[in-house]
Amino acid sequence: MIPDEVRSEVSQLRELLRYHNRLYYTENRIEITDGEYDALMRRLSEIESRWPELATEDSPTLRVGSKPLSSFPSLFWDPPMLSLDNVFSTEEFSEFDKRIRRELKLEKDPSYSVEPKLDGLAVALVYENGILVKAGTRGDGSEGEDITPNARTLRAIPLRLSGDPPPALVVRGEVIFRKADFQKMNRERKARGQELFINPRNAASGSLRQLDSRITASRPLSFIAYGTAMWPEGITSQHSLFDMLGKLGIPVNPYNSVCRGAEEVEKACHRLEENRDELSWEIDGVVIKLDEDSLQKRMGTLSRFPRWATARKFKAEEAVTKLIDIDVQVGRTGRLTPVARLEPVFVGGVTVSSATLHNEDELAKKDVRPGDTVIVRRAGDVIPEVVRSLGRSEGERRERFRFPRSCPVCNGPVAREEDTSAHRCMNPSCPAKIRESLFHWGCRDALDIEGLGRKLSEQLVDKGLVKDVSDLYRLTSHQLVFLDRMGDISANNLINELDKSRGTNLQRFITGLGIPGIGRTVSGLLSDRFRSLSEVMDASADDFLSIEGIGPVLADNLQRFFNEKITRNVVNRLLNAGFNPESSEVDDVEKPLQGLTVVFTGGISTPRPDARSMAEDAGGKVTESVSSKTDLVIVGPGAGSKLQKARELGIEIIDESEFLKRINRDGRILFEKRE
Ligand code: IVH
Repeated sequence: MIPDEVRSEVSQLRELLRYHNRLYYTENRIEITDGEYDALMRRLSEIESRWPELATEDSPTLRVGSKPLSSFPSLFWDPPMLSLDNVFSTEEFSEFDKRIRRELKLEKDPSYSVEPKLDGLAVALVYENGILVKAGTRGDGSEGEDITPNARTLRAIPLRLSGDPPPALVVRGEVIFRKADFQKMNRERKARGQELFINPRNAASGSLRQLDSRITASRPLSFIAYGTAMWPEGITSQHSLFDMLGKLGIPVNPYNSVCRGAEEVEKACHRLEENRDELSWEIDGVVIKLDEDSLQKRMGTLSRFPRWATARKFKAEEAVTKLIDIDVQVGRTGRLTPVARLEPVFVGGVTVSSATLHNEDELAKKDVRPGDTVIVRRAGDVIPEVVRSLGRSEGERRERFRFPRSCPVCNGPVAREEDTSAHRCMNPSCPAKIRESLFHWGCRDALDIEGLGRKLSEQLVDKGLVKDVSDLYRLTSHQLVFLDRMGDISANNLINELDKSRGTNLQRFITGLGIPGIGRTVSGLLSDRFRSLSEVMDASADDFLSIEGIGPVLADNLQRFFNEKITRNVVNRLLNAGFNPESSEVDDVEKPLQGLTVVFTGGISTPRPDARSMAEDAGGKVTESVSSKTDLVIVGPGAGSKLQKARELGIEIIDESEFLKRINRDGRILFEKRE
């Protein structure tokens, strides 16, 4: 028999914990310290473990997480969780507004709900009779991952709704980190010697998609709702929906507002953009929706996004800092890239301490010199770049940066390619090339070797343990344990991973070789055509040319790679190490743009050829003009007629950061971290 006072203490404790969660996450206030909160939680869990009958499925003690899952089951969303079309200027928003007024034959200006666009991870929360029963990620919009145990650990997500909830309610919103929570978490990680998170969005997505919900529980994530799957009974506008969600205890954005007509919307957007630094979370734009439900319904939706809403993206964030020096990095193919070393500066949501200067010509054009004050730009997840120099003060005569004529790593000869302005180190055994090719060998698209990151590749080369990829397969765990951050367990794991990689297929093997221009897609074409590696090695240039998608340059690269003594020997050593790569019946590499025809237009910051090959590697076909055959248009600022045409044809339009997200290149380019 449970004593009455225990029952009442339990309900009081739960009520108190709910009250403080709500205060913090919906009103941004605190009345008790973290320590006091933890003490309440501990007391509740002590009582629940003594009287397990008292445990309920909405108790705040569930927030500590539970045993790890082996994978996430799927959840299906109907209606699907849509994405948003974008506008980049006042004129474009005005066109959006005109279209609405024209199509709906409105006499007066419509009301719009103007909401900060939070940059996190979209999730849906399913409530039945006010109790949280399921939670999932957006995934591709129709199918997401069931992350219920993880969502339960977020204090911002009510496990039980307050007030008078409808019998069924699916809340949609964004899981995010508040800037302050994110910075505090990173400070603590630094103090513990753990790797830092790059930015709040990556951290939110990584933290929520943990198979072990106890890890999610340890991360201070927040949640803010921006809608529901269906309109609840009696709700007829976006703003009244927000009022209702607030009353149920679901956090909504206090900066949402209602504006009448395009001019008011414009002012509200400016206010948000000007004050974005003061907001508690990162925002990357403003979402503008027709406020009235009846008007939304009349505008309808296209397959990927509604016609009653749009996102007004902010322009790329810029910051001023000092350029300490210019380093020249050597990539896998020997390409020399000038990289600006900067005094750390917070821009676009992350602290940036290096930025690309692309190549010698760019560097000369911008004439940035070590010691200059420079403007750095970063948009969404793209690589930060130095925009221009603000010059040097009168009388200062700094030296123009001279591009090295020999490799900064091995001193080998450097040649300049006229068509691409790239410089390349010609020494085949340059250590920089070797460590980059080791790293590439282990990448997800290639051999996918967990643990073979940049740091380890660097150590293996610097310590002389590895001179080319085939040496990896001679390593012993005794050699590995002497390396930094390597214990018995990680050494054995790496040996096992390497061993497992011997069974790889032809596509991954060729991708891993890192032949110039031969990424995952072309390797896939080769593996469709040839059955084994020896067939590829013996093929002639004409054989390669007869494959659709392979032109003379790639055919020549392939021929040279397999005929050159040095590279052919590496391949033979790999074969001797136990590889026997053959075509697999099924392509096991998932491709996010498979079968889609895509067009780039406007100014995007990834160099066009790179963007093109990234799209192709992701399975897409890139064309120059927009037609009814186009599936996806990737736009940057200044896009003109192609964007217009895409709109007319109702083609999906996304911006660069969304493109990088889709092809899973989230901040991976400069910030690769796998260890
Ligand atoms: S509404 C029907 N409102 O932005 C339209 N989305 O780029 C569906 N987002 O997938 C979204 N803040 O994850 C909406 N106030 C807001 C938002 C918002 C952030 C995210 C959301 C969506 C993405 C589209």
